[in-house]
Amino acid sequence: MRFLTSGESHGQALVAVIEGFPAQVRITKEEIDRELARRQMGYGRGGRMKIESDQVEILSGVRQGLTIGSPICLQISNRDWVNWSSVMAPFHQSIPEEVVIKEDPRLPKLTTVVTVPRPGHADLSGALKYGFTDLRNIIERASARETSARVGVGAFAKQLLKEFGIRIGSYVLSIGKAGTGPVQPLTPDQQEQVDQSPVRAFPPEAAEEMIRMIDQARQNQETLGGTFVVYATGLLPGLGSHVHWDRRLDGRLAQAVMSIPAIKGVGFGAGFKTAAFPGSQVQDPITYSPEIGFRRTGNNAGGIEGGMTNGEPLVLTAVMKPIPTLYQGLPSVDLKTLEPTRAGAERSDLTAVPAAGVVAEAMVAWVLAEAVLEKFGGDSLPEIKQAWLGYREGLRGKAKGGKC
Ligand SMILES: Cc1cc2nc3c(=O)[nH]c(=O)nc-3n(C[C@H](O)[C@H](O)[C@H](O)COP(=O)(O)O)c2cc1C
Repeated sequence: MRFLTSGESHGQALVAVIEGFPAQVRITKEEIDRELARRQMGYGRGGRMKIESDQVEILSGVRQGLTIGSPICLQISNRDWVNWSSVMAPFHQSIPEEVVIKEDPRLPKLTTVVTVPRPGHADLSGALKYGFTDLRNIIERASARETSARVGVGAFAKQLLKEFGIRIGSYVLSIGKAGTGPVQPLTPDQQEQVDQSPVRAFPPEAAEEMIRMIDQARQNQETLGGTFVVYATGLLPGLGSHVHWDRRLDGRLAQAVMSIPAIKGVGFGAGFKTAAFPGSQVQDPITYSPEIGFRRTGNNAGGIEGGMTNGEPLVLTAVMKPIPTLYQGLPSVDLKTLEPTRAGAERSDLTAVPAAGVVAEAMVAWVLAEAVLEKFGGDSLPEIKQAWLGYREGLRGKAKGGKC
């Protein structure tokens, strides 16, 4: 199974093509749109989110609410495109010299040709690599707007996982210096609460301080990063593998989450904190009972040992750096004149940690769906379920006293 996305931030649409997705998985437009809406929420988001209200269109691969095994093509239109159609036109059109973004009076007039790279973005490296002086050619694709297509793809992966009792969620642990909650999987009710919170905080009381931090950052023309937790429950042991470096599930999950713009680190379970403790306090003791089978008395490993799920909930934490577009304009150099100057700002988020958690859910869902298909593979959901049920029964047999 694989997917590709295509599309620029102010182009006509974001598109994703999913290949190898099994047939007979049920999905509704509402389920996909709900995920897209979750990505767009969050206190501290920029004006763009007021313009875009993402809706999916399915161009292929789904019929009457059921996947049919052919490539799935989904499209999310950019409503803002009408203001950018000449700037982003694929073939030559006369371009206005500047576009005035009326929604945010703090912003400078936005020139359609950008020659000052913003520190912390793909702007400079992309321009040098691809040989452009007009940074718009880089900015447009490097923008995290692309992650809306990933969330659309993730909605399919989640639907597949749901069939196997696997549930994925996320919450914000901290924004700036605010918030230090527990790292754990949430109940469906707790997750519902998180999705109602303007900053997707858990515990809910942490939201107030986070909002205060964001307001303060706005006043100071600053931006903020933070941390979030993604979890998955209902996993059987044995997804992923210990036998090759590129099949280890923790490595694959970390890569997928690190591929989200601005994510700078990923830890599993107790993660970076394990460094400070002796081994006897970090490894999760194994217990056995005929009724339940093998369990752990803790989950410092975050549900993965030796590159495989161990049957405990998957729990990972990710770190997001502060948003690199600042209204104060960071020191840079104009590529046209090579003179020092300050980078401009396009409509931008003050923080996007709540949204990044939703994107990470999609990426985690994708990797887990891949791992499920690798272990129980088949062309249709009933075929995959049969293999899965057989494996689960085998594990239950062991739980009832059958030897390994
Ligand atoms: C959901 C989401 C929204 C983002 N929104 C913005 C934004 O409005 N402005 C901005 O400068 N960066 C934003 N970013 C971060 C940049 O996309 C990212 O820092 C940039 O592409 C450079 O990549 P790097 O930080 O991984 O090196 C956002 C990231 C995510 C995940």
